[in-house]
Amino acid sequence: MGFCFVSNGVMARPTNHASLDFKQTPLPPGHPPAHADMITPEIEASMESSVLCWLATVSAEGVPNVSPKEAWLHDGQGKILVAHIASPKTVRNIEENSQVCLSFINIFTQKGYQISGRASICRPGESGYEAKLEKVVQRIGTVFPVLSIIVIEPVRIQTIIAPSYTMFPASGAEDRIRESLATYRVEDYIAQVKQPSSDT
Ligand SMILES: Cc1cc2nc3c(=O)[nH]c(=O)nc-3n(C[C@H](O)[C@H](O)[C@H](O)COP(=O)(O)O)c2cc1C
Repeated sequence: MGFCFVSNGVMARPTNHASLDFKQTPLPPGHPPAHADMITPEIEASMESSVLCWLATVSAEGVPNVSPKEAWLHDGQGKILVAHIASPKTVRNIEENSQVCLSFINIFTQKGYQISGRASICRPGESGYEAKLEKVVQRIGTVFPVLSIIVIEPVRIQTIIAPSYTMFPASGAEDRIRESLATYRVEDYIAQVKQPSSDT
């Protein structure tokens, strides 16, 4: 999916889950309560620069699902909004089990975050939907129809950093950027779009 905008931007599972209603599952022991201020300006900046995130969900049967999302943002009040445009399994899983995990990295700096939390689905007509939709539309415009909005309340946030930062501490962010530009063959792609192939 390519949006028509320029973005600036685990929990141990009980083996006997048959009797548990995951929609109502409380936070696991040891987990801090969700706080509105967990998403710091630094984390928000990382979200913006990462562009794409990967959202992991789990079905009632414990089957995991991970899929990419580009229409996502911090709502400014501690929650993450993800537009459901084409994510039926993600939405179904969240209805069955609210526990999710969202990961993102800036592919150039090779740093990002993993956010575990609880998700719910906010649908058209429900309280607060229009305000959330407005924030999503500000981000992605109106080209993609939004079916509902996934609302994630962070519970735990961990940093993700490429092992090379610690293995080769003498090199810094600029070295990672240089390496990633080469790894992702950025110059090749730029050349490709500058000189479209003759068979198109
Ligand atoms: C780069 C990219 C960004 C995407 N962003 C979104 C998004 O923001 N929202 C969405 O609903 N689907 C998005 N999709 C589409 C879903 O990832 C795709 O339809 C996936 O198969 C959904 O499956 P699920 O139902 O298992 O989540 C995106 C796909 C790609 C490749």
